[in-house]
Amino acid sequence: MTNKYMYFIANWKMFGNLKTLNSINKVISFTKKNKKNKFKLVYCPPASLLFPLSKKLQATSIDIGGQNCHESQNFGANTGYINSKMLKDVGAKYVILGHSENRQLGESDKLINSKIQSSIKSGLKVIFCIGETLKQKKKKITKRVLFSQISKGLKKIRNKKNIIIAYEPVWSIGSGMIPREYELFEIIKYIKNKVRGVKVLYGGSVNSKSIKNLKKINNVDGFLIGGASQVSKNFIDIIKKTYN
Ligand code: 13P
Repeated sequence: MTNKYMYFIANWKMFGNLKTLNSINKVISFTKKNKKNKFKLVYCPPASLLFPLSKKLQATSIDIGGQNCHESQNFGANTGYINSKMLKDVGAKYVILGHSENRQLGESDKLINSKIQSSIKSGLKVIFCIGETLKQKKKKITKRVLFSQISKGLKKIRNKKNIIIAYEPVWSIGSGMIPREYELFEIIKYIKNKVRGVKVLYGGSVNSKSIKNLKKINNVDGFLIGGASQVSKNFIDIIKKTYN
């Protein structure tokens, strides 16, 4: 059982529509009933749902965040993109950057660094994702990979108070596989040594079963949850089980 302040961040990826938002009512009433628990819930829905969700969550303690953004803070001729100021404008407090699904599409560490800088300037908190592939894990170069992602991604960012690191091993995302407890503890310790004072979340196949093991890792500051965050009951179960 923990009493620690934990983050539970829902990354809906490209799932959800206006109808789906009704399912969040259950989570809203859960947070209202559980005021004494110290936790922060953040929903990162697809861009199409940011504004309606922001309105829906207005009188609650739940925050919203974007799933990515453009590196420029200015309006511009960039078809299909939104920037950090625009996220802020619709009520977002957070933005996920450097997610492996976007790295795989070609986002470089340099680009991620520009996005982080611009988001911080816009007053957002950044959920900065890092993680190794299965191939890199097998080669035993996980720490080297993480070090490279951290040092390039956070280059020139002196004040890290608005940075939260999400360690998401690529091989664990959507696969049902999670790291061994001691491995995860060691990696989080490694990240916290490299970036002093930063909160570190874990992401990858977090669900109401795996949480029983994941919550034992006492240096983790919360979870970035994909699939299981789309069903309110599962999301609530994860939170409940973390504290029980
Ligand atoms: P799953 O929880 O579906 O494995 O996704 C993790 C993730 O990518 C969150 O950003």
